[in-house]
Amino acid sequence: MTPTVRPPGTAEALPREAYVSQENFERELERVFYSTWQYAGHVSELPAAGSFKRFAVGAADVLVVRAADGRINALHNVCRHRGSQLVSDDTGTCKRALTCHYHGWAYNHDGSLRGAPRMGDGFDKHQFGLRRAHIEIWNGCIFVHLGDGTPVPVRESLADVVWPYADLDRAKVAEIATYEVETNWKICWENALECYHCAINHPELVRVFDQDGDAGGADGGADYVYFVNPLLGDSLSVTRSGHLESKVLFECTTPVDEARGFFQWHTSTFEMVGSPDCIAVTSYTPLAPDRTRITQTFLVPEKAAAGKDYEPAVLFELHKLAREQDNQLCTSVQRGVRNPAYVPGPFNDIYEVENLRFLDVYWKLMADGPERA
Ligand code: FES
Ligand SMILES: [Fe+2]
Repeated sequence: MTPTVRPPGTAEALPREAYVSQENFERELERVFYSTWQYAGHVSELPAAGSFKRFAVGAADVLVVRAADGRINALHNVCRHRGSQLVSDDTGTCKRALTCHYHGWAYNHDGSLRGAPRMGDGFDKHQFGLRRAHIEIWNGCIFVHLGDGTPVPVRESLADVVWPYADLDRAKVAEIATYEVETNWKICWENALECYHCAINHPELVRVFDQDGDAGGADGGADYVYFVNPLLGDSLSVTRSGHLESKVLFECTTPVDEARGFFQWHTSTFEMVGSPDCIAVTSYTPLAPDRTRITQTFLVPEKAAAGKDYEPAVLFELHKLAREQDNQLCTSVQRGVRNPAYVPGPFNDIYEVENLRFLDVYWKLMADGPERA
């Protein structure tokens, strides 16, 4: 596939190579995942000094680590001695230092080199701190950016997002569900961008979610979309019952019956669905042209106690069910697009408008030219 700008006036899906080609996949890693902000986790996953979480995509591997001063650092997971991967666990706590298992170089939580056994008098440890990636925290969500240069700050890109839950630094992760799905990451995202498929594939969801609803909110511009999540009747949450399923609710800037947010950021393939009782964050990690890890992170208010204030099996049920239904759909699309008979079809110009916006973002990122933030 020769990267180019989406031809004006065309409104159809991507060509087959975009979903199956290893060469295109590697270009995507460079142009999208190593060059844009990516969601790496929530601040509550790093509760203490030394808490860390790995964010790995393609060959890149970064540790987000909380230091003693409370700051969270993004450090490339590569020892500055001979390049060993420093940490292989996905999460954990290193009380005093990140110590390389190979020759024992030890790094502080801010990445500075603390000690390097027997390196001799002329060795200047200040020259060998871990390399840093860009990091920014937006409303409790940790974003990392692996590119060189200075990216446009997340808060600047998302300045117009009026999210009804403004203090998610104080939320906590109640549960993380991961799925490895045999499909291309863009098929997942394209599926998430439209509800044309909802009526016949999500019978439980459409009992509470109004796919034709206009619940207000705002158009997020070219790179993202956010709006008030349109629910049916007196539904207040994305739960099987439509009722709030927790006794402890998030503080919100709008009345509870309007506090439903839906936000998708195209360049980062990051999605948040917010209700007063639960906020579901979904992110996508490409593993291969035909394999994607999908992560659903369920946030609840920090004071909400599982089993007492809410039942996880009830509160997260509909989100998980819809995810599993979507996973089946995405797998099926991958099987179809790898068929040599596949030719791109037209988008629906009412229900699939966001898909076109994503394609514009995608083509722009993939086009030849200077790197973008
Ligand atoms: S490679 Fe890490 S200490 Fe040698
Ligand atoms: Fe769906």
